[in-house]
Amino acid sequence: MDRSQAVLRQSLTAAPVRTRIARLADAPLIARFYESLSLEARYERFFSHKPQFSGLELQCLSHPDPAQEICVIALTAGGLMRDDDRSSGGEIVVGDARLVANAEPGGTTAEGEIALVVADAWRRHGIGRQLLCGLVAAARAQRYSAMFAYVASVNAGMLTLIHEFSFRATPLAGGASLRLMRKELADASVDAGCLKHAQAVLQTNDAVPAPL
Ligand SMILES: CC(C)(COP(=O)(O)OP(=O)(O)OC[C@H]1O[C@@H](n2cnc3c(N)ncnc32)[C@H](O)[C@@H]1OP(=O)(O)O)[C@@H](O)C(=O)NCCC(=O)NCCS
Repeated sequence: MDRSQAVLRQSLTAAPVRTRIARLADAPLIARFYESLSLEARYERFFSHKPQFSGLELQCLSHPDPAQEICVIALTAGGLMRDDDRSSGGEIVVGDARLVANAEPGGTTAEGEIALVVADAWRRHGIGRQLLCGLVAAARAQRYSAMFAYVASVNAGMLTLIHEFSFRATPLAGGASLRLMRKELADASVDAGCLKHAQAVLQTNDAVPAPL
């Protein structure tokens, strides 16, 4: 990183970041966020090369279905704004955490698969932690019993982060390149250091459907 990039990064990350449940009106911001991710970030998030998102992919990503998904986004007023960002109060999305319900056919298993991604320039400022605090709190509020994530074994950042939230590795057939990490949500306790972020997200969680 050269000096100008370092200065830009510093000014970007000095702005306060808030997290909340995504709304329908956030769709353009979420789509823009995914399109702005580096190829590496896309690969780490989706486990496949995505030089471009299809229209359908962007539509699905930017319109999470509240009946079977929880989407917590991180927003900030900082950053490089385009004119059309101003219609949303000038905020931009800098991180997205998802839980997708994993119901067995005909069953009522209240488990969810999670994934998160933070904009490349905004990493290591606690946004991933902030998002996960909100996602765990929202999942508990919707009575999910467990959450899990598939994480590449080389993804030290994500593994360290979710270990902090007491995700534990569970056996996964077929090679060591991927880990299946799982967290039980049975007890209602708030994860260490999460109270403020959890409350902030729960206050925005106006649609609270029961899990499938
Ligand atoms: C994983 C990811 C979401 C972390 O987001 P982040 O905002 O940078 O994370 P945070 O700043 O909240 O980090 C919290 C803690 O996680 C750990 N951590 C995060 N990134 C790390 C890294 N690259 N290396 C080692 N530890 C890391 C650290 O313990 C960190 O605490 P510290 O900064 O006080 O040391 C982000 O790196 C990312 O978007 N990666 C690409 C997408 C991805 O891999 N998603 C996971 C697939 S499910």
